[in-house]
Formats: sequence, C-alpha cells, structure tokens
Amino acid sequence: MRVSIFGTGYVGLVTGTCLAEVGHDVVCIDVDPEKVDGLNRGVMPIFEPGLAPLVEANHAAGRLRFTTDAAEGVAHGEVVFIAVGTPSDEDGSADLQYVLAVAKTIGTHMHRPVLVVDKSTVPVGTAEKVRAAIAETLAARGVDVGFEVVSNPEFLKEGAAVEDCMRPDRIVIGAGSDEAVETMRRLYAPFNRNHDRIVAMDVRSAELTKYAANAMLATKISFMNEIANIAEKVGADVEMVRLGIGSDPRIGWHFIYPGAGYGGSCFPKDVQALSRTAGQHAYEAGLLHAVEAVNERQKSKLFELMSRHYGGAERLAGKTVAVWGLAFKPNTDDMREASSRRLLGQLWDAGASVRAYDPEAGAEARRIFGEREDFLLCSSSDEAVEGADALVVVTEWKQFRSPDFATLAARLADRVVFDGRNLYDPSQVEDAGLAYYGIGRGRSL
Ligand code: UGA
Repeated sequence: MRVSIFGTGYVGLVTGTCLAEVGHDVVCIDVDPEKVDGLNRGVMPIFEPGLAPLVEANHAAGRLRFTTDAAEGVAHGEVVFIAVGTPSDEDGSADLQYVLAVAKTIGTHMHRPVLVVDKSTVPVGTAEKVRAAIAETLAARGVDVGFEVVSNPEFLKEGAAVEDCMRPDRIVIGAGSDEAVETMRRLYAPFNRNHDRIVAMDVRSAELTKYAANAMLATKISFMNEIANIAEKVGADVEMVRLGIGSDPRIGWHFIYPGAGYGGSCFPKDVQALSRTAGQHAYEAGLLHAVEAVNERQKSKLFELMSRHYGGAERLAGKTVAVWGLAFKPNTDDMREASSRRLLGQLWDAGASVRAYDPEAGAEARRIFGEREDFLLCSSSDEAVEGADALVVVTEWKQFRSPDFATLAARLADRVVFDGRNLYDPSQVEDAGLAYYGIGRGRSL
C-alpha cells in the first residue's frame, strides 16, 4: 500500500521504517530540511537500536523516502499518518498546533480520498478536530473529496521501538466505519499473523486507551516509589517487597521497579495531559495528581540521600560527584524529563562538580548544559570515577551492573555509592568498604 507519514520523530520514523520493511511504499515528510537531508544520507536523528540498518536497507530498496515536500507526501499516500509532536502547553495540556497544521496541509493538497491516521498521542476529541480542520481547508478550496480520520495510537518504547513496532502486542484502531477498519487491517496484516492483535473500537475510546495505558504504567511506578519511601522509613527493603508481590499475576513483574522517578517524553506529559482533559470535563483526577506529585518528589530523592549522607546540602560544596547515566532510561540518548537533569541542577546549585558518563547521551547532555567548569563529560565509567568523591548511578545501563567495588572503593575519596536504580547488592558494596544508599532500602535509615 502507499503510505505517507508526517513527522520523522521517534514514532513517525520507526513506524514508516517498519511499514516499509514489510513491503509498503512509504514516504516520510518532515518540515526540517536538515533532518530530511540527513535521513536521505543515512544519518539517524535519534539513537534507537536496530533502526539505522533498517532505514538504510529500505531506503536503498526505494520503499522508504524522505522529503520536505508536503504536496508530494499527500499525493502519494492512500493512508496518511499524522505522527508529529504534541508538546505540553504551559498549563500541561497537549499542544495540538503541529497536528492541526498537518491536517490543514492534508486538506490543502488532497485530490483523492485518503484515510488519515492520528498516530501521535492526542487528547480525546482530537480526531474530530483534525476532521474539521481538513474539511474546512477543503471547503475553502471548493473541493469535495471523501476522507476519514481514525485513531491508531502507538505503544512503542524507546530503546525497543523497532522490536515493539515489528512485533506489536496489540494494534488499537479507533474508527467510525467498517471500511476504515478494513483498510487498517490490510495495512497491518503483515504484523498481525498467528493471532488477531487488532482491537477495533470507536475513535474516542482509542484516543483514551493510549492515555490509560501510559497513566496505568506511571501509576505502577509511582506506587512502587511510594512503597520504597515507606520501606526506607520502616527499615524494610523494597527489593524484597518487589519480589514478594511480583509473582501475583494480578500485579505482575513489570513496571514495579522503584527508582529516581520516571522521565521521558511520554509519561510525564501524558499523565499531565490526561488530568487536564479530566479537569476540562469537570472531573478532578485525584489519583493522577498523586502519581505526578510522587514522581516530582522522587526526582529529588538521590540529592536528598546525598544531603543526608553528607549532613546537609551545603556540605556538598566543593565535592566532585561521578554520575553514571544521564539518559531517562537505558538504550536511548533521550534526556527529556530525565531524573539526571534534576540531580545535576541540584548538585551544581550546592556547589558540587560533576564527572558524568553515559554510553549514548553525552552529546545530548552537552547540548542541554553547554560547556561549564563544573561539568566534565567522560568517555568511560572508569574515567568518571577518577578523582571523584562519590558515585551516583542514575540510569541502569547494562555496563553499570557489575563494577569492581574494590576498585571503586580505592578511587572514591568519600567511599560512598548512591544507587538510584537498586542495581547492587548492598552487602556486596559494603563488604568492599563503601557506604551504600539505594532507593527504599531500609539500610539508608
Ligand atoms: C512509554 C511506554 O512504556 C510505551 O508503552 C509508550 O508507547 C511510550 O511511553 C509512548 O507513549 O510513546 P518510554 O517513555 O519509551 O515508553 O519508556 P518506558 O520504558 O516506559 O520508561 C519510562 C520511565 O519509567 C523511565 O524513566 C524508566 O526509568 C521509568 N521506569 C520504568 C521506572 O522507574 N520503573 C519501572 O519499573 C519502569
């Protein structure tokens, strides 16, 4: 099928590439000429495992093209995806300006019927707004062409985006007609083998499904962080509690890892946007507010532990802190809403210097923080601890999982490790002569 995709961010680029990989003829459109140029030369705008070779192969095969030409893009697709960003407005609601701008572009260049697909995470009611924007633009041109807008939310995870896209656990389609569902079924047929993964529903339910999924996951994390904070107070170890509850299939093992708070481009934004939507419909989403509040507090947890260890934030002045991990999670270079940003800001405010290492997010960190005297970007985890007083682990990259604690004890002048992802066995760290602080581990009392 001929597919056009507006927006070559995470969602658009990965979706376009995977659709091309299964044989569709895909054109990706972006307003950023540099990005489009880069993609045509095989330069990835993001780090995502497995993406570059797929883009290259499908581009070479002529099934995947990149352009800034919106007219060409609209003319190409029988299915046209909207996969542009929906950043947070000042008040936390999703800002729809880019989505609606694409809708107008589609209306401006449409000459034959198309199926328009909302792939971006958009508040309930957006498909209707997209429909109205396209209809208005068509009317202004005096053109009458049939089209329908469906909602097809994306559930991919950064770091595993290609895998999630190639092997989806469900494909949610919100549509107003059987024809639209049928077209989407044909499009997704290559991903829908063995058993039917398509869940067809009305448009509004599909739009809400995406927010419900992310809000549920964020709730699990905040819940566990709350339990961790209680565990710390009562002298229990949340890691034991996690093992004790995860085997109940109603609770499950996933997303019950306590840590330094959730970050990324989705959870913080989506939880906020869903409470906004609820508020706009005169419903006070108390649980969602609490999920957000717990997360906000949790992002300061590592600094709080450090201040406690040193006997006050002011005692961190002049310290050199090694930080392992800057990305909001492993296998990505994304630092949006990353807990590391809060921690680094707090350390600098306290007068400490940072020696940081992240396997992928170094360039992004430099872009965000610029050159500063109290910020050294290192090229290995070993280099980060050289001459440091303390070590803080913020992101659970695999390579941080089993350091040589004896070497750490020899290198870290203050002999202390703050483990923001509970990667280590406290007694193993302590046996090496280091003080250990984790999240929700009663020993931090
Ligand atoms: C999230 C969802 O997991 C995807 O299903 C969804 O499609 C995506 O948002 C989206 O809306 O586009 P993502 O933001 O890539 O994906 O990252 P996650 O793996 O969900 O992690 C989010 C944050 O939660 C990270 O900061 C991670 O460290 C944290 N987390 C996760 C925990 O603190 N504890 C856990 O147990 C799990």
